[in-house]
Amino acid sequence: MAFFFECFFLSLSIILLFVWSSRHRRATSLPTNWPVVGMVPGLLLNIHRLHDYATELAAESGGTFQWKGPLFCNMDMLLTTNPANIHHIFSRNFSNYPKGPEFNKIFDILGDGIFNADFQIWELHRRTTLSFFTHLDFYPLLENSISDKIQHDLLPVLDHFSQAGTDVDLQDVFQRFTFDGICKLILNHDPRSLCLDMPLVACEKAFNDVVDALLYRHILPEGVWRLQKRLGIGKERKLMEASRAFDDFIYPCVDRAEEEPDRFSLLASFKKELQHMTNQNSKKFLRDTALNLMLAGRDTTGATLTWFFWLISRHPSSEAKIREEIDNCGRRVDVQKSRGMVYLHGALCETLRLYPPVALEHKAPMRPDILPCGKHLEENAKVIISLYTVGRMESVWGKDCLEFKPERWISPSGKIKHEASYKFPAFNAGPRTCLGKEMAFIQMKMVAAAILQRYRVKLVEGHVVSPRNSVILQTEHGLKVTLSKIIY
Ligand code: HEM
Repeated sequence: MAFFFECFFLSLSIILLFVWSSRHRRATSLPTNWPVVGMVPGLLLNIHRLHDYATELAAESGGTFQWKGPLFCNMDMLLTTNPANIHHIFSRNFSNYPKGPEFNKIFDILGDGIFNADFQIWELHRRTTLSFFTHLDFYPLLENSISDKIQHDLLPVLDHFSQAGTDVDLQDVFQRFTFDGICKLILNHDPRSLCLDMPLVACEKAFNDVVDALLYRHILPEGVWRLQKRLGIGKERKLMEASRAFDDFIYPCVDRAEEEPDRFSLLASFKKELQHMTNQNSKKFLRDTALNLMLAGRDTTGATLTWFFWLISRHPSSEAKIREEIDNCGRRVDVQKSRGMVYLHGALCETLRLYPPVALEHKAPMRPDILPCGKHLEENAKVIISLYTVGRMESVWGKDCLEFKPERWISPSGKIKHEASYKFPAFNAGPRTCLGKEMAFIQMKMVAAAILQRYRVKLVEGHVVSPRNSVILQTEHGLKVTLSKIIY
């Protein structure tokens, strides 16, 4: 029944949309709240540019905008980019904003992994993952695995493209690099999706289908995507195929890890913790744990590197400063040297401010609440925090908010300037702050340095770079470049 209502609303919206758009040209982005269908027509009109649309709505309404969905569809959402609200939701009133059942429903493919978990299970994930990432053996492991991957796969692949003089899609290269890297760290297995043959590794590509489908689950009525799932069509079919690809890839790695219980590994640490929990299916739990970290490690870092190379290709003076800093570091950049690269750090932060890979967060209060902006929230009200939009708010970052200025991140004494996480929430804020931040900076700096030391990178003429509709901010058509080797 709900499905018929939703189809009816959708058709009505489309009709209204065409009537409205043919008669009106309005100076404001704020959508009309139509009877019955709510603001769906405005959304449909902007469906190809959701992140920028959210930015316009937030900017025109002082940072917080109430979006109205169709009647009976439970799709009303509060969009906020107000730093005080972010601080309240992520930190000060954290206990009232668990991921919750609505988030779990949308992100069900992630199972019981850290992104989906709340309360005790989340604490177990957080504690165990943190102790692995801060273990004395971890950074040498990380450094070796990044260096090996750069030397044995990244540089030979880039050399190949540069010698052939053909275009290369850097987004694809970075996704493969970060996928192989995180698999090596978490599963002790490098699937070598990045190598001269550039093979299709089903599990690696499955992540792209997942992040697309999950955004659509946010904006489609639940009845619609559930029906698609039941019929096995559209983006839901891709999600089901992705889930199978993840199982086929991860379970054999979990089996192998179980044969080496004494090796320093994340799965072994989790296995020990699980001995105290009788009600957990440990294989499934380890699969979910690995999958969540693979998603965290592949897409975010890969997307940031992509946007970074695009931004510096448009800002030659910033690129020159980065090259100078890298040249001063010597040929091989390691963990220690990467920490001293202040300008490159600023350029990466600036990339993350303008193109945060996790473009939005989804929260719902367990109990009614009042946000610092004065907005009342009912229990389970949907709140969308657009991290993409926060970095583009004049009220937060000033008049030059849309400009790429790495200098913004450097203090007068030449040190990295710290910004509060509710103003710069690319890595989230409060108790659920990203656990891979330090690791991500090291990886991104080592990769950027390895490439910029050896190649001039030129964007292919006419190649258009724009954000794709996805929960991870990738570029729509990749990043097509040509590479020419620098001769010293
Ligand atoms: C540029 C790179 C990265 C960015 C921008 C980033 C951003 C984020 C964001 C926004 C969240 C919150 C997600 C949510 O709760 O819905 C998060 C959580 C997390 N990130 Fe990252 N991340 C990056 C790299 C990494 C890497 C390389 C890892 C390592 C595997 C990692 C591990 C995690 C973990 C484990 C969490 C869950 C924290 C929790 O819920 O307590 N991240 N990250």
